[in-house]
Amino acid sequence: MRKVNLILVIFFVIPFFFACSNTNEKTNSEEQKDSLITNNEMNEGEMLTKKYCSACHKMEGNGDQSTNGPRLAAIQKHYKPMYQGKQEFSDSMISFLKAPTIAKVLMPGAVKKFNLMPIIPVPDEDFKKITDYIFDTKFNNNKGNKNKSISVELNNGNKWKIEQELLAYVYEMKEMLTLDTEKNKAEYQQLGKDLFSVMKKCVLYNADNKETEVQIRAFFKGIENNVHNLMIAENPVEAQKLLEKLKNDLSNFENFFEV
Ligand code: HEC
Repeated sequence: MRKVNLILVIFFVIPFFFACSNTNEKTNSEEQKDSLITNNEMNEGEMLTKKYCSACHKMEGNGDQSTNGPRLAAIQKHYKPMYQGKQEFSDSMISFLKAPTIAKVLMPGAVKKFNLMPIIPVPDEDFKKITDYIFDTKFNNNKGNKNKSISVELNNGNKWKIEQELLAYVYEMKEMLTLDTEKNKAEYQQLGKDLFSVMKKCVLYNADNKETEVQIRAFFKGIENNVHNLMIAENPVEAQKLLEKLKNDLSNFENFFEV
């Protein structure tokens, strides 16, 4: 009888006890491990970003203070509407970091201001930690930048001289905005992307002089913002409002620029 009891204990009770305590222990320790990993990765991502990027990219704050490159907050703001999932965000950013080209650029204004970013030698295994950090961080966006957003000005009361090519891009954008059939979220995002690619040509446009280029950038700054907002518009009402704003802003172009 005692033997049977012992066997019962060995074969049923003990394994049962272990199974229970095991699963509990496992979930607890797994949770702990998970949160540790996230914390470590966050810290590591931040550390690596500071190590490799901070010479040229400040985290946040006033964009005008930085002399070597745009703020990371601004970079995140330009990438997120275009690449909405974390994977797509990091794949695209890593592709840019490994081989920066004008074709991949999402910040044409920054390229005009600072020139294209050089290749930074970062070990392969560190790229994702850096881009995840830039994706996850809640930057204190726009602080001090909002009031400073430049607006376009006339050239001593005269319009800025530009070539037909630039005007043609502006017409192209206007035409894209006249299609007024209602779209779904993905279609508005696509329209935003299409508008962005033409707007990018405008911002990258080589004018006769730097002053004109600064004014072109100023003119498109608000437009760029609304194009980003269109990419992430939650519903057709919001999207239609943005389209109206964009039409309105673009209709001002010829008040400041002429061929
Ligand atoms: C030597 C200076 C320098 C360093 C170091 C540097 N960058 Fe840049 N970066 C720039 C400049 C200048 C620009 C703006 C021009 C451009 O967009 O290419 C830029 C732009 C960018 C952009 C936006 C590209 C676009 O236009 O779409 C991303 C993303 C970026 N940097 C990420 C990083 C990351 C991540 C690091 C660190 C691994 C880093 N940069 C290190 C100078 C630098």
